[in-house]
Amino acid sequence: MTTPLPLEPIETASRDELAALQLSRLKWSLAHAYENSPVYRRKFDEAGVHPAELKTLADLARFPFTTKQDLRDNYPFGMFAVPQDQIARIHASSGTTGKPTVVGYTARDIDIWAGLVARSIRAAGARRGDKVHVSYGYGLFTGGLGAHYGAERAGLTVIPFGGGQTEKQVQLIQDFKPDIIMVTPSYMLSIADELERQGVDPVKCSLRIGIFGAEPWTNDMRKAIEERMGIEAVDIYGLSEVIGPGVASECVETKDGPTIWEDHFFPEIIDPDTGEVLPEGEFGELVFTSLTKEALPIVRYRTRDLTRLLPGTARTMRRMEKITGRSDDMMIIRGVNVFPTQIEELLLKQHALAPYYQIVLTKEGPLDVMTVNVEPCPETAPDAAVLRAAKEALTYDIKALIGVSAVVNVLAVNGIERSVGKARRVVDKRQASR
Ligand code: DLL
Repeated sequence: MTTPLPLEPIETASRDELAALQLSRLKWSLAHAYENSPVYRRKFDEAGVHPAELKTLADLARFPFTTKQDLRDNYPFGMFAVPQDQIARIHASSGTTGKPTVVGYTARDIDIWAGLVARSIRAAGARRGDKVHVSYGYGLFTGGLGAHYGAERAGLTVIPFGGGQTEKQVQLIQDFKPDIIMVTPSYMLSIADELERQGVDPVKCSLRIGIFGAEPWTNDMRKAIEERMGIEAVDIYGLSEVIGPGVASECVETKDGPTIWEDHFFPEIIDPDTGEVLPEGEFGELVFTSLTKEALPIVRYRTRDLTRLLPGTARTMRRMEKITGRSDDMMIIRGVNVFPTQIEELLLKQHALAPYYQIVLTKEGPLDVMTVNVEPCPETAPDAAVLRAAKEALTYDIKALIGVSAVVNVLAVNGIERSVGKARRVVDKRQASR
């Protein structure tokens, strides 16, 4: 019988112990940023604050925010706080527009990152001897290498497949019999389709655990994937600016939102409009300050991710509610705010439809038009009456529950573009059609 992997002492420390550690690390991190990164020095000076003024964790609210724009303005290495010869690795996130956001790591940063992804994998229920199939992309994206180093650090066997070549992925999943898969939830669905296409019942494949992240996915999607694959599905969160995957991750015993690895990242929730720190439990924009990062200390980084902080359950560290969306993803349709995950939730209630979708926004004169492209499950595809009923029900639910009219378009099976990484949920053609 395989054994579960033990927790680190800090995972069971008291809140007081954790807060004391956070305060001493925060003092170090702010001083490090101020002394070694001219960009931070200028930002702090302009805001009239000095790291020595931080006496409590709450004092952090007096320090200025960092945004993606700061990283872009100082492209590529301008915010690094160590000399070039101490940078062990570079990653970058490819924005949809403009230059990528570039991040750097010292050898110690990579060591800490590997430790946190290993912690995340243990929290997901890994056991000694497990094999981990990594389908996150390798390269400048932090997903593949982040998962890889973490799985190795956890002492597990890594299968570094990367994204794409779905047919071959599935072949190797059958041959190598991995226990754990790390992949975006949308690409997991493509892998499940391919398993079925090759005549394999996904429930019978060797996988026991899926560690899914890099894009928003709902609890309904979790249920759908768990049932279809016969696995436990947990949520891993992260962003390259803060470190990569493993900023927070879900514990399998509760599956109630990612536990934030607070000994390395200090979270705040702010009002996205005023920048004010909100009381615990309130919904707003997630902001992170790194506590131990050397190469690129990050102070009050505005993630644009919307969520709330929740008390710890499986660990003393706090959790974040599953991300429902980024402020950048929020669509404003005829004045109503809509997130793609709201559409996902309603789509998953329609069992005749497959869990794939893409939202296309256009203009008809001055009015926004939202088209929701979906596709049938292969079994229901031939049944026109069933599909018509599903389409009507989805159209009705979107109007009744979200408050906007949508045109639901049922395409053919495989009609929705498949991604091998993060799914592209929204195509906004409104600017072009003006
Ligand atoms: O997506 C890092 C990552 C890789 C996380 C693999 C998890 C697994 P970026 O490319 O910089 O980094 O994108 C970061 O992706 O601000 C969120 O908007 C979104 N995101 C990441 N994880 C989740 C998640 C990686 N679990 C951006 N749920 C973040 C919802 C997520 N959104």
